[in-house]
Amino acid sequence: MKISKQDIIKALETITVAGEGKNMVESSALVNVVTFADEVIVDLKLSTPALHIKKRAEADVIKVIQEKVNADAKVQVNIKVEAPEKPQGANANANLIKGKPIPGIQNIVAVASGKGGVGKSTVTANLAVTLSKMGFKVGILDADIYGPSIPIMFDVAMEKPLSITVDGKSKMKPIENYGVKILSIGFFTQPDQAVIWRGPMASKALNQLIFDAAWGELDFMLIDLPPGTGDIHLSIMQSLPITGAVVVSTPQTVALADARKGVAMFKQENIDVPVLGIIENMSYFTPEELPENKYYIFGKEGAKNLAEDLEVPFLGELPLVQSIREAGDAGRPAALQTASLLEEAFESITRNVVEQTVRRNESLPPTEAIKITTMAGCSAVKK
Ligand SMILES: Nc1ncnc2c1ncn2[C@@H]1O[C@H](COP(=O)(O)OP(=O)(O)OP(=O)(O)O)[C@@H](O)[C@H]1O
Ligand SMILES: [Mg+2]
Repeated sequence: MKISKQDIIKALETITVAGEGKNMVESSALVNVVTFADEVIVDLKLSTPALHIKKRAEADVIKVIQEKVNADAKVQVNIKVEAPEKPQGANANANLIKGKPIPGIQNIVAVASGKGGVGKSTVTANLAVTLSKMGFKVGILDADIYGPSIPIMFDVAMEKPLSITVDGKSKMKPIENYGVKILSIGFFTQPDQAVIWRGPMASKALNQLIFDAAWGELDFMLIDLPPGTGDIHLSIMQSLPITGAVVVSTPQTVALADARKGVAMFKQENIDVPVLGIIENMSYFTPEELPENKYYIFGKEGAKNLAEDLEVPFLGELPLVQSIREAGDAGRPAALQTASLLEEAFESITRNVVEQTVRRNESLPPTEAIKITTMAGCSAVKK
């Protein structure tokens, strides 16, 4: 029995690649097909390293070949992960910060809000553990110089990063918990000490946390930003090539006004960080014992409407539930509660973030660190 290569290709055309909306053959995920008697070897090239996407691709290939071509076919699937090709000339700038590369860090995603207390840190922590569960290598840089809360949310507030030697240089070793590597300004300041930060000082400290640290290979570095759209944000964006930003808002009018400013800040001509989308937090209150009861205490679908209005993707909504707050305070993000509604909600939002990141990388060149020489030139945030 000889299996025809043409039949295999026809069968593979029925598989859609996650996040691309094209079939496996059109999207050039299919690299090669080799057939010998009843054996088929399929080589694939995927743009995302997520384990579940690799596993799904492999299972789909085996299934369609056995269903559509030959039930007894012995199928071997080889998958190579390759970052999407960058537009010409853009590669030279990839992962370069003022001439300094960040070896191994693929995507830097900033989590911002405008208004304080809307759940940036909660969202960052839960996105990170969910990405890690999906098979990505993840780090969090807690850049909230006013109130670093990531160490508490990961139950590592008492830890102090050790210094290790990498290639003859001494580097800070991020603290790790739940599969997430963490560095925070909070590891180096006293909780009761008021530190008055200015933009350049903050960006110097953050640069050290990035460049003088042994992050290793990361698919995603999430940056938990402080609230607001001020000086500190500009300094951070000045010195880092941020792949994209996620804006968190509650549905409340005052939060939405600030989220709008947040989006406007990233879109400003001299910053130009792509906005991956908006996440609505505290969309409605729901008591744990009566999950069908939803109380829209901050208004309904405000952030969803804002996303439509600003023409940025809406990444999903999260309810206001006591266990999210408790999980944060207890140092174990809620998304780690297996088979829970919250795990599902965070998975759906995380999938959307990954999808938007892959799309962004396919359609745009890497973000360059901007070079603002005077703060006066960038103080106005256009509405
Ligand atoms: N969906 C939610 N349900 C219940 N509590 C929540 C939810 N989201 C956040 N919280 C709680 O609200 C408080 C503020 O959240 P968080 O610290 O994540 O906000 P933030 O935007 O990072 O704040 P800041 O601007 O101070 O950095 C925390 O106590 C957190 O546990
Ligand atoms: Mg915070």
